[in-house]
Amino acid sequence: MVSEQAAQVLVASNRGPVSYTLGEDGELTSGRGGGGLVSGLSAIGPDTNAVWVCAALGDGDREAVRRTGGRLDTGDTGGQRVRMLGIPPEVYTDAYNGVANSTLWFVHHLLYQTPLEPAFDSDFRARWASYEAYNRAFAEALADEAGDGAAVLIQDYHLALVPGMLRALRPDLRIGHFSHTPWAPVDYFRLLPDDIARQLLRGILGADRAAFLTHRWADAFTACCTELLGGTGNTAIGVHGLGADADFLRERANRPDVDERLAELREQIGGPDGTPRRTIVRVDRTELSKNIVRGMLAYRQLLTDRPEWRERVTHVAFAYPSRQDLAVYRDYTARVQEVADEINSTYGTPGWTPVVLHVKDDFARSLAAYRLADVALVNPIRDGMNLVAKEIPVVSETGCALVLSREAGAYEELGDDALVVNPYDVSATAAALHEALTMDDDDRAARTKRLAAAATALPPQRWFLDQLEALRDG
Ligand code: G6P
Repeated sequence: MVSEQAAQVLVASNRGPVSYTLGEDGELTSGRGGGGLVSGLSAIGPDTNAVWVCAALGDGDREAVRRTGGRLDTGDTGGQRVRMLGIPPEVYTDAYNGVANSTLWFVHHLLYQTPLEPAFDSDFRARWASYEAYNRAFAEALADEAGDGAAVLIQDYHLALVPGMLRALRPDLRIGHFSHTPWAPVDYFRLLPDDIARQLLRGILGADRAAFLTHRWADAFTACCTELLGGTGNTAIGVHGLGADADFLRERANRPDVDERLAELREQIGGPDGTPRRTIVRVDRTELSKNIVRGMLAYRQLLTDRPEWRERVTHVAFAYPSRQDLAVYRDYTARVQEVADEINSTYGTPGWTPVVLHVKDDFARSLAAYRLADVALVNPIRDGMNLVAKEIPVVSETGCALVLSREAGAYEELGDDALVVNPYDVSATAAALHEALTMDDDDRAARTKRLAAAATALPPQRWFLDQLEALRDG
């Protein structure tokens, strides 16, 4: 039976391709996620013996692990073999929320307000011990599933210690690590306690290859290794700039459910005397690094400085929930809502809602917004890549001008045809929004075409295969 064979390709990530919800009647419902990894992995085809190792995230997942022993029913996973780890809830919460999403995410995205934080005390050390235990659980499961000389692709900051731990257990494996986030500059990385900073770097250097989304993040990692460890040793450093999946997006964006959402949005946006309003579109998970509030402040400044835009433009902002277990994320979501309300009550008129904000996740509605975007606003404080910047030019119907933060990884590939902003500079962002709204049609069309070509240069399947080939050839 296939499910008992040792795997030749393994993927490890905190969040797996499937998750379960537990109904009141005890029934489990499975839902499948999308994203670059899911479609990337599909490139190797069903015949390759591949396993995806992930963590149980909530109660539904834990129940599925209890019922199956962790090897999920392939009927729930689209045929993919998945090994889900039932890590004890306290250990998981400390590792995921207490270290990965607080400390490591904050360090790589430069999010601390340093007069008061971080403060690495004994509570932090206790959470760190959980992070180690959680990484160890992954390393042991991978060691257990992997066939001789198998290739293992480990994802992200959650699992930074896994390559080193796995190397110790299974020296025969080819191990890769991929960071989907930025990497912190040396001085900022050194906020971490010295021993932990070194442990993280050594963990990743346990891999044969450590790869990143852009040269900038790869160079930052190398600089940290040089400063703290004297170099990167035998680990190769790679760059693979994940691109948008054009075929999937174009097909998905034209299905009836998206048409329906488009009609609803058009209705909501409206326009004086039947002339449709211009749109500034943003779609984000409400992460602190996305800079949604400064984006709205820039829009407010546009309406103040250039009253000619009042009634003629709408800011369509989708800010979907993320990591709501952490108070700082909940507070940020509330602030986004407040600023949108303030703008609407200051400038709104009976026929015009200046900010149309949606906070409930709806992929079809996101695609509808992509279709009608005149301007795409992507202004993160710092971002590993930002796929929205790549997706909107592919899907937008009439071409869109892209206002893009120079701190997004996507800037490396899209910067030439975007209107580039410093994400902290609200006034400059307001000026860029005006420039984007007034860009002439030919320029806008030509830029959109080049943006879409650059954005789709490395589709998810190629992105995945390139990594696998580089790892095997290394
Ligand atoms: C973002 C990052 C990824 C990360 C993911 C985790 O999308 O770009 O690097 O893996 O967040 O999000 P989660 O919802 O699982 O905490």
